[in-house]
Amino acid sequence: MLTPTAEIVAAAYATGRGVGAFNVIQLEHAEALVAGAEKADAPVVLQISENAVRYHGALEPLAQATLAVARASSTQVAVHLDHATDVTLIRQAVLLGFGSVMYDASVMSYVDNVGATTDVVRHCHERGVYVEAELGEVGGKDGVHAPGARTDPAEAAAFVEATGVDALAVAVGTSHAMLTRDATVDLGLIERLRATVPVPLVLHGSSGVPDKDLTAAVVAGMTKVNIATQLNKTFTGAVRDYLAAEPSAVDTRKYLGAGRDAVAVEVARLLHVLSA
Ligand code: G3H
Ligand code: ZN
Repeated sequence: MLTPTAEIVAAAYATGRGVGAFNVIQLEHAEALVAGAEKADAPVVLQISENAVRYHGALEPLAQATLAVARASSTQVAVHLDHATDVTLIRQAVLLGFGSVMYDASVMSYVDNVGATTDVVRHCHERGVYVEAELGEVGGKDGVHAPGARTDPAEAAAFVEATGVDALAVAVGTSHAMLTRDATVDLGLIERLRATVPVPLVLHGSSGVPDKDLTAAVVAGMTKVNIATQLNKTFTGAVRDYLAAEPSAVDTRKYLGAGRDAVAVEVARLLHVLSA
């Protein structure tokens, strides 16, 4: 069932569990993510990034499909806008019925990030929508492993106080779009952030983190864990294998179906890792 992000994240935060947040690029992703969550009997966040919107040329078609998949699910499913820098897109997501948005002003200076994020929070809170923001840029969006940034706990607490955000993405050693799972997560920093910042923490770039460290990051204090690339690797690997085994296949349902099935299995596995 379509469930507010606030409800899913608050329940996990209260019990020290992790919530898997996975990206939807094609309809098959949404179907696979929900199938995996149902298999694991866990709630899940489906997120559509600004980059995915750019790829499709519009938010609404993929958003309506994702919302429909969420409504039809037997488990709790939230729909979230990920890494939005465009405030118009945020307003559109709110109108479409998203439970949450991530406003990403992490490239701005601290003062500008506070100002811009505060405006977004005001708009979203007046309409009952949960807001995630980012402080300390998690690198790698250009495809190069860039684990250097670190979020300062005192600055993070001040940022939450000043902006009123509901959840905070922090830089603790991960980097977006890693194809290897060998990132070193700063668990001590996560513990300090958890002790200092009064809202749930979000781990971005989690595809680069090995299973045992995903679990350790949750134990140390991470709540929402964003994973995208690992599932694209799984999807594409299954499609490659299918087409290699069946070189004369032309029905897109055959190979996309193989990708979808593989992603559902991997999502169920990752959700167990996050709740361990
Ligand atoms: O916001 C999305 C995530 O941070 C995903 O990052 O593709 O490195 O797992 P990833
Ligand atoms: Zn991210």
